[in-house]
Amino acid sequence: MTMLIPFRRVLLSSVRKHNCRQFSDFSSTSTARKGLVLGVYEKQSNNDGKHFTEAAAEFDSSLSGKLSQMLSLSGPPLKKGKSRIFYGLHQDFPSVVVVGLGKSDAGVCGKENWDNCKENIRGAVSTGCRQLQDLEITHVEVDPCGDEQSAAEGAVLGLFEYDELKTKKKVRVTTTQPHGSVDTAAWQKGILYGEGQNLARQLMEAPANHITPTVFADTIEQKLSPFVDRVTVHKRPQSWIESEQMGAFLSVSKGSEEPPIFLELHYRGSSDSTQPPLVLVGKGITFDSGGISLKPSSGMDAMRADMGGAATVCSAVVTAAALKLPINIIGLAPLCENMPSGKANKPGDVVCAKNGKTIQVDNTDAEGRLILADALCYAHSFSPRAIINAATLTGAMDVALGSAATGVFTNSDWLWERLHKASIVTGDRVWRMPLFQHYTKQITDSALADLNNVGKYSRSGGACTAAAFLREFVTTDHWAHLDIAGVMTNKDEVPYLRKGMSGRPTRTLVEFAAHLASES
Ligand code: BES
Ligand code: MG
Ligand code: ZN
Repeated sequence: MTMLIPFRRVLLSSVRKHNCRQFSDFSSTSTARKGLVLGVYEKQSNNDGKHFTEAAAEFDSSLSGKLSQMLSLSGPPLKKGKSRIFYGLHQDFPSVVVVGLGKSDAGVCGKENWDNCKENIRGAVSTGCRQLQDLEITHVEVDPCGDEQSAAEGAVLGLFEYDELKTKKKVRVTTTQPHGSVDTAAWQKGILYGEGQNLARQLMEAPANHITPTVFADTIEQKLSPFVDRVTVHKRPQSWIESEQMGAFLSVSKGSEEPPIFLELHYRGSSDSTQPPLVLVGKGITFDSGGISLKPSSGMDAMRADMGGAATVCSAVVTAAALKLPINIIGLAPLCENMPSGKANKPGDVVCAKNGKTIQVDNTDAEGRLILADALCYAHSFSPRAIINAATLTGAMDVALGSAATGVFTNSDWLWERLHKASIVTGDRVWRMPLFQHYTKQITDSALADLNNVGKYSRSGGACTAAAFLREFVTTDHWAHLDIAGVMTNKDEVPYLRKGMSGRPTRTLVEFAAHLASES
């Protein structure tokens, strides 16, 4: 934020003189807690007239050009992502933040694989909203910036903060609403997309002693409770998992005192109940200690988010239900802890998956592929239109792409095109990775069993050997594995997400499902 002193003092006093009745009203009415976020484009030589967004231009003209005047007096033109705050400018809005939106003609960028315009709006709106929140303002109106959905996403995502377990709470923005005449349906869609991702962030951020498999399943069931007419939730207990012969999943869960749950969500959005479902599968390790192949203690706390696949997938189902998407979706989440104990898997153990394939568990820390193996087998029983699984599966994925994009391993160009397209819209990007036989050979070469749960050159191509392993449990023509380990956390890479667990790529999954729904 740019400081406005001494210009602001001069300008504020002129405003006071001009409008002193209104100014004195501020302290005595509820407007004292009201703020406004307005957007301004970077000036280009050919677009002087398009400097303000529509809402900002209207606001400016209602004040006879005062905003424009103050902006130019208070400093250099606002660059993308920068902001400036004005107090006492308008009787309804004691605080107005003006945020830089970058160039007005920014659009889809072929090199970056996203829509610059949407990303700029998300970033700018989130900055503006946070500044108002820092001022303890509770009611914020937001410039839709010509794209209500992106503006709403920026507000909802930018304001999220996990402070549930702190006794001292910050004053929070309680209402955000669009400013001016807007497409309310698009705004509402953005709110739901943002809230969907925030639900995943909340589940991922919560400590493992709070979000156990049972609590995870109960939370999702509760979030789906408003949609009972079109959603069924099954919380499958251990006895059911045993009857399904999910030996790989059970081999991981037996190392923990916490009972496993296989969560199964059915969302019936299509008017055709026989429409083959989209099946989403998420890795739900509520804590990954590594098991007997124990992880180093430094940074191990982050493994409370090793249920990020389950969190994003289940949040996508909740969002699809809230949006009433006309599509059938089944969400599956094997949920358990990966712990060391007298009952835990031991390196060299051989376990048997649901499809009868035997697996030598050489590293108990490669547990995600074990629980997903059984879940993927089960996913096929619904004759799905497509299966997409999401998993914080390998540290190697983070080494490969970092947090720039989710790695997608898929046997289907059809699926890839749609996921890629969805991610351009959401800005939560995907990048295609290989499923070569080269990697398959490295996990089918096992001394004791059909498969080994680690590649024989262990570290090399770790994300690719993990994907090759999962493929051994897939027979459908349209399957995609999303390795989300690299995008699990946000430091400062995504400007509209605060530091912490990211909830990525929930919005991309929702956008993909929404598009698929519109196709059929
Ligand atoms: N949950 C981890 C992967 C992970 C690492 C996710 C960092 C997010 C951030 C997974 O279960 C794991 O431990 N994978 C091992 C596999 C290895 C033993 C073949 C890994 O990546 O080291
Ligand atoms: Mg592990
Ligand atoms: Zn794991």
